[in-house]
Amino acid sequence: MQTFEALVKKFEAYLQEHTPFPLTPENLYEPCRYFLSLGGKRVRPVLCLMSNELFGEISADAWHAAMGIELFHNFTLIHDDIMDKAPLRRGKTTVHERNGLTAGILCGDVMNIFAYAALGRIQQNLPTLLQLFNQTAIEVCEGQQLDMDFESREDIRIEDYLHMIRLKTSVLLACSLQMGAIIGHASEEDSRLLYEFGVNLGLAFQLRDDYLDAFGAEAETGKQQGGDILAHKKTYLYLKALELANDLQRENIQQLQRVMSTEKVQDMLQMFRETGAEDACKEAVAQYSQQAFSALNSIQIEEDRKKPLRDLANYLLHRKS
Ligand code: IPE
Ligand code: IPE
Ligand code: MG
Ligand code: MG
Ligand code: MG
Repeated sequence: MQTFEALVKKFEAYLQEHTPFPLTPENLYEPCRYFLSLGGKRVRPVLCLMSNELFGEISADAWHAAMGIELFHNFTLIHDDIMDKAPLRRGKTTVHERNGLTAGILCGDVMNIFAYAALGRIQQNLPTLLQLFNQTAIEVCEGQQLDMDFESREDIRIEDYLHMIRLKTSVLLACSLQMGAIIGHASEEDSRLLYEFGVNLGLAFQLRDDYLDAFGAEAETGKQQGGDILAHKKTYLYLKALELANDLQRENIQQLQRVMSTEKVQDMLQMFRETGAEDACKEAVAQYSQQAFSALNSIQIEEDRKKPLRDLANYLLHRKS
């Protein structure tokens, strides 16, 4: 069984060797290469490879799937940064800020098509795998739309938020794991449990992402601190702060919400701390991690084979970037 570090290294090498973009038109493909070369954690392709390795040696099909998944993920990030008006990603200027909106839109589009080209190289079970991937990709779009819709709404409940992050984030982690399992000819039950592990890991992962957006250091996250606050995102932190606030605090939060300058970030963070929303968010991360590990425990495979997945999950839940 290979560790997260070992598989990230191998995936980076694979990506370098198989980067699919031609040289011209340069204004289309140079930003694609730029964005992919900025790294990122490569969590999703590695989840697919690890899950595949649970059932035997990693196969060529698992590499095609991993490539397709990472290209798709990068496409969603390029478009997400346009939608979220984000200036910074992976510590560098976002594609639309660096190369303009047209490049951002088209690079994302073409990367998505190259993702499907990679998936198209899969030799076995392609219809089943494509159906899972397509369903997931549709759900990601649905989640992204809900995320945007929620920006201008003040009637969002925690359960709406959880539904939204399940769609925009969790299902892709779950799909990555399940594709690896299907390619490895896993039993229906193991494949289902890996999906369940992924969904709960994904919920914890997005809660942690929201936490880092607020409280993380820009130098570590590589993203603008407080971006979610400035975009009026209905994050767990925001919703929980409103729920736990006393009347005075609630009024303060609502007033801050109407302020349009970056100066409000520190005041809002203070509200997240004072109301106990910060601690509640950490607890929620722990709670969904527990559920993820419980699904992993139920998989009928020797414990030592699961260790890389367990280690990766632990790393994700405590990550700073
Ligand atoms: C960012 O995903 C988008 C979310 C779903 C929170 P990652 O945090 O995996 O981004 P990279 O690929 O490592 O940059
Ligand atoms: C993005 O969620 C999820 C997808 C890209 C599908 P966020 O908007 O929170 O991700 P970051 O924080 O920009 O990476
Ligand atoms: Mg974003
Ligand atoms: Mg977003
Ligand atoms: Mg975020």
